[in-house]
Amino acid sequence: MEHDKDIQTTQRGFHCNLCIVNIPNKPSLDDHVKGKKHQHLLRLRAQRKAQEENSVFVSGFKPDTSQTDLKEYFAQFGPVSDVIMDKHKGVYAIVEFSEPQNAQAVLAQLEHQLDGLKLRVKPRERKEFKLATRGKQDSKNTQISLDRLNNELLKATSVNEQMQKVVDSFELKENEKKVRDLLVQLLQEVFTEFFPDCQIVPFGSSVNTFGIHSCDLDLFLDLENTKAFQACAKSSEATGENQSEDCHSEDSILSDIDLSTASPAEVLELVAVILRKCVPGVHKVQTLSTARLPVVKFSHRELNLHGDITINNRLAVRNTRFLQLCSGIDSRLRPLVYTIRLWAKQKQLAGNLSGPGPLLNNYALTLLVIFYLQNRDPPVLPSVNHLKNMACEEEECVIEEWDCTFPSQPFIVPSSKNTEDLCTLLFGFFTFYSKFDFSASVVCLRDGHVLPITDFLRRDEEAVDTAEASGPKPKRSSAPKLGPMNVLDPFEQNHNVAGNLNERTQKNFKRECCEAEKYCRSLQYQRKSTKGKSWGLVRLFAPLSEAGPRSQVETEKIMEVSIPFKAAVLPEPLRAQLALAGKSFRSIWFAKICSAVHTVFHEILKCSPLEETQTVAATTQDKAETEGNEMEVNNNQSVEDSGSQAKSETGKKRPLTVDEEEEEGPSTSTVIEAKRQRLDADMEHPEPVHWTWSQGNRVWAGRRKVRRDLLKTSDETSKPEGGCIDIESRVTQSIVEKEEKLQELLEFKVDAEVVGGNQSTKVVLRFHPSHDTTGVFQDFFHFLESFLPKMAETILGRAGS
Ligand code: UTP
Repeated sequence: MEHDKDIQTTQRGFHCNLCIVNIPNKPSLDDHVKGKKHQHLLRLRAQRKAQEENSVFVSGFKPDTSQTDLKEYFAQFGPVSDVIMDKHKGVYAIVEFSEPQNAQAVLAQLEHQLDGLKLRVKPRERKEFKLATRGKQDSKNTQISLDRLNNELLKATSVNEQMQKVVDSFELKENEKKVRDLLVQLLQEVFTEFFPDCQIVPFGSSVNTFGIHSCDLDLFLDLENTKAFQACAKSSEATGENQSEDCHSEDSILSDIDLSTASPAEVLELVAVILRKCVPGVHKVQTLSTARLPVVKFSHRELNLHGDITINNRLAVRNTRFLQLCSGIDSRLRPLVYTIRLWAKQKQLAGNLSGPGPLLNNYALTLLVIFYLQNRDPPVLPSVNHLKNMACEEEECVIEEWDCTFPSQPFIVPSSKNTEDLCTLLFGFFTFYSKFDFSASVVCLRDGHVLPITDFLRRDEEAVDTAEASGPKPKRSSAPKLGPMNVLDPFEQNHNVAGNLNERTQKNFKRECCEAEKYCRSLQYQRKSTKGKSWGLVRLFAPLSEAGPRSQVETEKIMEVSIPFKAAVLPEPLRAQLALAGKSFRSIWFAKICSAVHTVFHEILKCSPLEETQTVAATTQDKAETEGNEMEVNNNQSVEDSGSQAKSETGKKRPLTVDEEEEEGPSTSTVIEAKRQRLDADMEHPEPVHWTWSQGNRVWAGRRKVRRDLLKTSDETSKPEGGCIDIESRVTQSIVEKEEKLQELLEFKVDAEVVGGNQSTKVVLRFHPSHDTTGVFQDFFHFLESFLPKMAETILGRAGS
């Protein structure tokens, strides 16, 4: 039965590949296959199949050839039922016969000529019949093709082979590339009529060696020559001279627009009009002029392609060349990128649907893979600076002041000494990023290593100084937009290609890397199952829902609240201070956060400190001078007020004196160096801080209502929870005064420590209630989970103003 191959048995029943629906049981399946939709799609598929078999693809005729001309010519092979052609440009046509043998007769003839031109005649491409809808449907289709891929992967004998299969399944095939070329050619012809000497240059996944079947066609409309043409035409007009040959005298749309003064939005509007009105097959044209790089989006109906046209995007063309070069330098890059892209898509980490979003874009993800390979030991790929040194003079290239020099041919670059296989490298990728300190590091492919975030805090400051001193900011001096993940473009050094990411995506990326790393350590990853179980990449590609909820890790965890280091929201004076601190920035920031946390508990939530002394070391700022002068304070004081940097246990770290060391013999300079190193280590890893508090009221309950009531009677403009210190203190005060007290005082300990370096820099606060038989502390903790980080951020921001 025909429907047999459309129906797949799944864990939850059946899946109809034709209609893309899940069916729970056999009776419903029988109803489904007899149903209207399924029957209609069966008929449609049969009709399409017949059409494909009955028709041929024809190109190579003159642009003015009509449908009738083609019909008349091909009628000699049998009755022609239809000729579908690109009427305006005459680039291709589909000639459909009544019978399949007519089409076969055409294909059997070796040569066809029309109007003195040799025609190219090919069989119609056999397309798989699919329900054509985007969005949600897309992900279902991906799931179906993934199911197929998984079947293939299970047949492989190693992870290396599986990774190669991923490339084979997803890469753009020659015929797909030809279709793309055809569209570029068509657009080039149309646009040249309106913008003489313009160039349509493809970039991105269609040409960067990482393209997949459904990828967009990114195009750069280069108007440099057109501008020159227009300037030349203008000057001839002004001098009244005849227009020269070079300045083609034809009248064009160019007379309506001055390219030297028009805004990108105006030019793109024109591009959109041309696309809509003059390019056959193009539809769904949409201009996005507010994007970082304004763009015109379009689709091509017959070719089933989605495209983007940008102007002013020469850097993207160059970075596409760079990606091509990297692929040429080491053949392991492509399988790694294809595999990691698919993994990231399945885990909902990459691939923003329709335009900008909080996920990684494919370009950023590819750069993360290249950076990792630069950091392998020995490196698989060289840094961009190394590549630059290998380039010859003719390959020098500067675009918008950015040095984009690298060799044009991969064979110039010596082969890597790294011989690791794909399976190991993939595992290594997950290990590398699972231990990566995204909050405090900047990924720099130019240098091939991580740069400390503090470098960029200073740069930002310098950039502001430069701008203030010399009027408009030069492009190069502006700092990258810092965020939860910072990946510098290899050429445009002030562009963070992951600048769109939000905290959640960064965290999820990290967490998925940890999960994948754990899985890669198992035998299930490395060895084919002899029992037919899923192994290798198959389990790695399990979609998020199948892999289990993300929150599982959290629910198992002890009571913990994290305050991430967010460079982007630091107040300016603190940025400057941290920039100067270099490696010890964590200590300073930790002290500030501890101080803010103290304020939240003490002043805002009106918790009472319990008598308990603890040893607090000197602040980072003056620790160098006060080495050894440890101070005793209790937690009635804020950590920072008291000179900050707390140490957990009295006398745990004995101050090191010069005398003591000298007794053992080393020279003074060695001692100073040793002291400095110990100080640096201390500064990088400050000791944890501890507090013990008590609370007698449900200060977390009903805050929203109290805040609303307070705001009604105050001049304060409405701020969200955690956005204003004064209001939050008054909310607590009101609850303490009006609401019933807790029957039993809540007592709890808080341990604070700063982590970073081999994980994202953050302050981790661990809560230990002395008892919580009634679960009241749980409620308080849930409130603190969101309130504490927000409030600490607000306090930090206020400290800078
Ligand atoms: P994409 O992120 O769309 O990558 O950027 P892609 O490889 O084409 O993947 P698809 O289209 O999602 O399948 C497209 C191109 O845009 C430039 C790069 O040239 C990239 O190859 N680009 C993108 C930048 O120059 N900077 C960016 O921040 C992002």
